[in-house]
Amino acid sequence: MSNEIGRRQFLSRGWRLGALLLGAAGAWTSWDVLRSRAEAGLGGVVRAAPVEEVPADTTIYIRAAQTYLTKHEDEVIALWQRCPHLGCRVAWCESSGEFECACHGSTFNRIGEYRTGPSPTGMQEFASTVADGVVEVDTGDVAAGKPPGEETIDEPVRGPSCSEGI
Ligand code: FES
Repeated sequence: MSNEIGRRQFLSRGWRLGALLLGAAGAWTSWDVLRSRAEAGLGGVVRAAPVEEVPADTTIYIRAAQTYLTKHEDEVIALWQRCPHLGCRVAWCESSGEFECACHGSTFNRIGEYRTGPSPTGMQEFASTVADGVVEVDTGDVAAGKPPGEETIDEPVRGPSCSEGI
């Protein structure tokens, strides 16, 4: 009789311990997959955002990667916020639908192509990939911006600039 109780208790504790370990492993895996790799900092790979949250008509800003994400023909584009002219932070302006550098007035279209101002090129782009549905931006792998020329998207200025009056 006492052998039967001891066996039942042993099995019951074993199941509880197994369930606890399984729960801990699941929680660890979820955290590891979903966490932002902000601690990687600039120069590392940043898990930025779920790919379905990257818009095709505007941009989203990822602070950990100093990057704006947008899409063009279903391809994710990760634009470095640094202006190619003298390095000021370029800001996205929703009302004009373009990037604007407040330092000397360079502007770029939604996919970072040069429009106006002293910048020698379009915005620089980080390499990016999609892993498990999440955009990963490699901030250690940056390509020079395209030289000024024809724009490949047909998105004229939408409205007033965010820099007017600054
Ligand atoms: S730093 Fe951006 S236009 Fe000069």
